[in-house]
Amino acid sequence: MNSRSFRHLLQDLARVALAAGLIAVGVQQHGHAAEPSPGTPVKIQSLRGGTPLDQDNAPTPIRQERDHAPSDRDFVQQPPLIPHTISNYQITKNYNKCMDCHAFQKSKDSGAPKVSVTHFRTRDGQELDNISPRRYFCTQCHVPQTDAKPLVGNTFQRARGLQ
Ligand code: HEC
Ligand code: HEC
Repeated sequence: MNSRSFRHLLQDLARVALAAGLIAVGVQQHGHAAEPSPGTPVKIQSLRGGTPLDQDNAPTPIRQERDHAPSDRDFVQQPPLIPHTISNYQITKNYNKCMDCHAFQKSKDSGAPKVSVTHFRTRDGQELDNISPRRYFCTQCHVPQTDAKPLVGNTFQRARGLQ
């Protein structure tokens, strides 16, 4: 290496060192600016927003689907999707609004399909004369369908027997 290219090398090294130094200073200053001075309250925005811990946020309204024709199933064992609004339909220990229309006795008047006979079987295979406790909370399995775009792409395909 001749003395001329050696000088260039030194100059390059100096430039690199200078740039690194500037970046380091920048980072330091930046870090410094984000740090609150003692006594200043730290502002952190959580999902509950600025609502104090001893208060509740108003629940966000659930978008109710409108009534529509029953949806096709994607596989035969699928719990069918709910094709109607279920706004204010209560399912409590003493009362099940869904059974108001879907119970065997009610379906003739309501025009709603009867709950499946499988819903009378306990997990041990015992047949009951009323809806099985494990099928009592209908919305555990039956949900309305929205036409929202999938958040993540997928290659799911309807079961071949239903295509
Ligand atoms: C006021 C009567 C009524 C009530 C209450 C009701 N439904 Fe329905 N439901 C219907 C009727 C009528 C249909 C048939 C709609 C059609 O065929 O167009 C239906 C259809 C359905 C279907 C579609 C079945 C299929 O084979 O596609 C499901 C699932 C369902 N309801 C679930 C529920 C659930 C869960 C609840 C309670 C949260 C509920 N329903 C409350 C009247 C009712
Ligand atoms: C643990 C999940 C689960 C729960 C809870 C449940 N279901 Fe189902 N439901 C299913 C599945 C799975 C099917 C389809 C296969 C079958 O018939 O068992 C079905 C089928 C149905 C059908 C269609 C019946 C037919 O002949 O095509 C109706 C109507 C229905 N359910 C209503 C209800 C109602 C009303 C409730 C609450 C009282 C309820 N289900 C609770 C899983 C559930």
